[in-house]
Amino acid sequence: MCVSRCSAGPGPRAHSELHGPSMGRRWFEVGAPRGAGWQGGLMSKAGPGAASTSAAAESWAGCHRLQDSLFSSDSGFNNYRGILNWCVVMLILSNARLFLENLIKYGILVDPIQVVSLFLKDPYSWPALCLVIVANVFAVAAFQVEKRLAVGALTEQAGLLLHVLNLATILCFPAAVALLLESITPVGSVLALMVYTILFLKLFSYRDVNLWCRERRARAKAKAAGWALASLPPSLPPADLYYFLFAPTLCYELNFPRSPRIRKRFLLRRLLEMLFLTQLQVGLIQQWMVPTIQNSMKPFKDMDYSRIIERLLKLAVPNHLIWLIFFYWFFHSCMNAVAELMQFGDREFYRDWWNSESVTYFWQNWNIPVHKWCLRHFYKPMLRRGSSKWVARTGVFFASAFFHEYLVSIPLHMFRLWAFTGMMAQIPLAWIVSRFFQGNYGNAAVWLTLIIGQPVAVLMYVHDYYVLHYEAPVVGA
Ligand SMILES: CC(C)(COP(=O)(O)OP(=O)(O)OC[C@H]1O[C@@H](n2cnc3c(N)ncnc32)[C@H](O)[C@@H]1OP(=O)(O)O)[C@@H](O)C(=O)NCCC(=O)NCCS
Repeated sequence: MCVSRCSAGPGPRAHSELHGPSMGRRWFEVGAPRGAGWQGGLMSKAGPGAASTSAAAESWAGCHRLQDSLFSSDSGFNNYRGILNWCVVMLILSNARLFLENLIKYGILVDPIQVVSLFLKDPYSWPALCLVIVANVFAVAAFQVEKRLAVGALTEQAGLLLHVLNLATILCFPAAVALLLESITPVGSVLALMVYTILFLKLFSYRDVNLWCRERRARAKAKAAGWALASLPPSLPPADLYYFLFAPTLCYELNFPRSPRIRKRFLLRRLLEMLFLTQLQVGLIQQWMVPTIQNSMKPFKDMDYSRIIERLLKLAVPNHLIWLIFFYWFFHSCMNAVAELMQFGDREFYRDWWNSESVTYFWQNWNIPVHKWCLRHFYKPMLRRGSSKWVARTGVFFASAFFHEYLVSIPLHMFRLWAFTGMMAQIPLAWIVSRFFQGNYGNAAVWLTLIIGQPVAVLMYVHDYYVLHYEAPVVGA
């Protein structure tokens, strides 16, 4: 006999397959409250006065019914919130153990004074800051070129040449200073080179957008259509360029969307996050990453592969945690704080990259300012000029690989191409992941490449840096 059972809400859903084809009727009906089976129907028909009758009927009906176990996929059960909480509790517990083990083994290694020495060798010499201040010269140069182009005092070819010279100097000048100046520290160099790289990307965009405007103006003139001219500014105010240089975007626009006011509480929260997360990152690097890296040098020297893998996996945990904190700190706290201060309206600095089921999705969503710049000023122009998608994508990753290497090799004074290779490897990796892994497997594959890929690059650079700077050369070798 098939008993009609009613079930509602997110609870387990019984499956008609249980009955087999001969059973005919489904026992699963949607609509009535959970537990209100045919007994429930009896009770509702008899009314509340017949409660004792219904209780007797309930015990007579028995306590079993056809149903799947929750872990069976046929049950349709998918509420694993408690298990997620369990994962978090386990994560906290295992990390608490690691934290304690680290403290017992190394004591407290966090040292704020040491952090200052990473930025400055000599308290009276601030070469990185001087470099950043000098960067204004290049911004003003780009502005002057655009100003002359706007009034027709320069030909397009001359303007292009001057822009190319300016942009090339933006990349070469800080690199030369970082390589030649003894007093600049690697961390100072990285920060200065980052500022120059951002300036390069911004001025590239500034030049492109102004050129597009001039072209549009010329087309409008040719058609004698006044409406197009009205949407373009008559001149280029320098304040406009400086607003763009400080705004959290790499893509220039004539009119940025603006937020109506500065929300003080929002700004304060972001500033507090910035302060706290900076301390946390520095503390974690000093206390957790540095000793792990130092302990990895011997296995590397001895070429002890099993120990190298063990060290790599050990480093992967703090490295990944710090990277996640960095992501939140930079893309949420810092960028929102700057945007709030400048009333910059577009706050899409990242999208849900953590749900990436492919490497392509990850690169489209993790760093929106860079991705937008790549699309607008590199990828789409290449496609428009007739390049295939594959060539355009390879071109973008090549440029990205160049900048990654630029930001690592020059400050460390060594050219090993690990960062370059890591970025270029994204192209075959994207293909492999999309070909062999889908859905949750794809997501796990993306996480795995992030968790393992980065510490490999870190260890390679640290190992090479260590060998180059701290290992005594063998005499006569
Ligand atoms: C290379 C890269 C730009 C490709 O982006 P993508 O989104 O996968 O590219 P798609 O082929 O899907 O196309 C993207 C856009 O081009 C447009 N497009 C496609 N073919 C086109 C064509 N022939 N002409 C013009 N536009 C075209 C699409 O419509 C789409 O437009 P939309 O963004 O407005 O929707 C991206 O992977 C990337 O940014 N990589 C580098 C990231 C990086 O290095 N980040 C560093 C962070 S530290």
